[in-house]
Amino acid sequence: MGDQAKLSVGGAENDYAVLKGSVGPDVIDIRKLYAQTGKFTFDPGFTSTASCESALTYIDGDEGVLLHRGYPIGQLAENSSFMETSYLLLNGELPSKDELTSFENTITRHTMLHEQLATFYRGFRRDAHPMAIMCGVVGALSAFYHDSTDISDPEHRKISSHRLIAKMPTIAAMAYKYSVGQPFVYPDNKLSYTGNFLRMTFGVPAEEYEVIPAVEKAMDRIFILHADHEQNASTSTVRLAGSSGANPFACIAAGIACLWGPAHGGANEAALNMLKEIGTPDRIQHYIDRAKDKNDPFRLMGFGHRVYKNYDPRATVMQSTVREVFDALKVNDPLFETALRLEEIALSDPYFAEKKLFPNVDFYSGIILSAIGFPTTMFTVLFALARTVGWVAQWNEMISDPGQKIGRPRQLYTGPTQRDYVPLDKR
Ligand code: CMC
Repeated sequence: MGDQAKLSVGGAENDYAVLKGSVGPDVIDIRKLYAQTGKFTFDPGFTSTASCESALTYIDGDEGVLLHRGYPIGQLAENSSFMETSYLLLNGELPSKDELTSFENTITRHTMLHEQLATFYRGFRRDAHPMAIMCGVVGALSAFYHDSTDISDPEHRKISSHRLIAKMPTIAAMAYKYSVGQPFVYPDNKLSYTGNFLRMTFGVPAEEYEVIPAVEKAMDRIFILHADHEQNASTSTVRLAGSSGANPFACIAAGIACLWGPAHGGANEAALNMLKEIGTPDRIQHYIDRAKDKNDPFRLMGFGHRVYKNYDPRATVMQSTVREVFDALKVNDPLFETALRLEEIALSDPYFAEKKLFPNVDFYSGIILSAIGFPTTMFTVLFALARTVGWVAQWNEMISDPGQKIGRPRQLYTGPTQRDYVPLDKR
């Protein structure tokens, strides 16, 4: 028998198995708690609760470690491609040369959208936030691709996963094109996944679009950095939606909706807006003081993380990518200096040190994306595009698990107890 945890409730003691992962904290298996004690656990925000078993991604937040299928994010960002990392997340191992080529071909063949989807965009206002468009269009995919929505069939799951990964750049680029009033650009399957996305976003029919290799590489790396992040809010949303048997397109649309929030994927947009508002380094202290003031709702966007209590390893890569992109595009955004100075001031301030608040992935990403030419409203869309592979990999893992039950949290009820209905004329 492995380790056991004892819980004493109302004088009665019960044993609960302590489960061990391959690495990381052990977990106490309390699945029988309610049947044995008639009590639930209370953990809003899941700060101490593992919602599932997963073999995809591991984070050690104290040490600033992020591994995908065991491989450190720094090594993947340096040596891998987004397509290869996607294969790794979906299949568990790095592909051979042939496997990678075949995977890239499959994804490339699915990049086009059903032509009728183009008319869907026209229902949105031109000034609609592209994340609103993403939620709508991705949810609508299930109306166009119902031949791959039998979730009990592994082949259907595979096809819909490939479709989602492949079509997301096309959908995202079209959301951008629609907002600027330019014609949609069809995929060009000669280009890489990321090169194709850049061309569909920034190309126009009147001119030949040339993909700048350094920008393509930086963008691809940004996609790798966002590919998966274990049980974050949007991934948990995808799993919860999927646990009811909902189709994959609906589940990913739910994930996109959750990602949009400023505490999650929306932070990249909020972080750049904040840097713009701060403007010059001499104004930083005022914003640091505001972030520390309990009576002020202002927070340093791009700072802090539920899991990382150390430097987010993705932020390290992101920071070094800023210079690469600046050099390639021969630009220099003074906001980068403001960001570096803000980081320096915050990290030397006891408030941030005590609370272990460090820059996260979103702190520097906006500066790069802005230099490449994306408006801030597109930042979270790019996060969604890249995270789609993590979402589908996690969704697949969950559906493949025979022990999977519908996700159904309990609650601590604090509302009125039973009372009789009072007719309107007696109230
Ligand atoms: N600026 C100032 N104070 C902060 C910040 C911040 N960015 N983040 C946390 N704190 C303080 C917070 O006020 C609290 O203080 P106290 O204990 O005195 O009440 C303490 O630190 C703990 O914060 P929390 O909100 O209880 O922590 P959490 O784990 O629930 O929240 C977070 C994590 C990421 C939502 C939060 O740090 C935050 O709002 N950061 C800014 C938004 C952001 O950058 N989000 C992107 C996350 S990374 C990308 C992604 O995965 O989506």
